[in-house]
Amino acid sequence: MRLYLAPMEGVVDYQMRQLLCASGGLDGCVTEFLRIGEQKLPRRVFIRLCPELLSNSRTTDGTPVALQLLGGNPETLAYHGAKGARLGASSIDLNFGCPAKTVNNSDGGAKLLLEPQRVFNIVKAVREAVPADIAVSAKIRLGYHDRSLGLDNALAVAEAGADQLVVHARSKADAYQPPAYWSELAPIREQLSIPVVANGEIWSVQDLQRCRDESGCDDFMLGRGLLARPDLALQIRDPDHQAWQWSQLPPLLWQFFQHGLSQYPEKYCGNRLKQWFMYLQRNYPEAECFFNALKKLRSRADIEALFLHNWPELQRQQGS
Ligand SMILES: Cc1cc2nc3c(=O)[nH]c(=O)nc-3n(C[C@H](O)[C@H](O)[C@H](O)COP(=O)(O)O)c2cc1C
Repeated sequence: MRLYLAPMEGVVDYQMRQLLCASGGLDGCVTEFLRIGEQKLPRRVFIRLCPELLSNSRTTDGTPVALQLLGGNPETLAYHGAKGARLGASSIDLNFGCPAKTVNNSDGGAKLLLEPQRVFNIVKAVREAVPADIAVSAKIRLGYHDRSLGLDNALAVAEAGADQLVVHARSKADAYQPPAYWSELAPIREQLSIPVVANGEIWSVQDLQRCRDESGCDDFMLGRGLLARPDLALQIRDPDHQAWQWSQLPPLLWQFFQHGLSQYPEKYCGNRLKQWFMYLQRNYPEAECFFNALKKLRSRADIEALFLHNWPELQRQQGS
């Protein structure tokens, strides 16, 4: 079984990848998408999105990071895929799942699933442009308006030469509305000879077991579930793992806050943390009280004071 951390634009950035991968149990992760239009992107844009390119395309704990590209033009995607590989990417992932209006209106994301031939053309062009030892994967939904073209798109990805396919088991029209249609992954997995990674609505060990039973997949990608339970991958891998209690999380949250400080203007310095708390609250009722206080704060000093008021022991880490 392989477990991956899902790409999440605006949420799973470099810091979050570092933190969740270091928490353990993951075989790989993916960057947020790099939007490929007509312009050639310079090196610095790649490095900003994926600083891991400077360290062998791995997080500090050694987890491989795939570089995700999004666009609709085979030539420009091929150019940037090859450039990513030259800059050190160990794997290129292609996004065919983004539901955002702005993305779909400008030729990219899930809309491409309406035309499996275009999906094929893109994957083939990127596969041909990227050296054979660099993996090329694709991430799709089961369709756009409905899920009728899921298998056609999956076959297009495999026939174009991709090394792996991730399927978010919903259409764009299904948005993020439960359920995820795990059983609809079964025919895809049966017909493809490349690994098919199941994704969508895996929030717990029980969800993963049901997803495995219904899809027949043995590889999984975890998104929001891992943000809600940072040790979900450990729980999945080891039945004896003691699920992390709320009292074990503050050092992780503190580290995340501190590392993000240099990246945003002060009044936004708590935004990423607030976003993470939205997910944590789902699993940790204790998070609510801290979150209610955090929501109102805008300055670094106030947020640090809130941390230290709740967990004075963090003072030691602050000093170190
Ligand atoms: C806020 C947010 C941002 C996302 N950004 C991306 C992205 O950049 N690339 C991508 O392929 N999928 C993206 N996704 C989809 C996730 O990777 C994943 O397929 C989806 O959340 C379902 O998995 P989950 O139920 O485990 O979260 C995003 C999802 C969310 C909620």
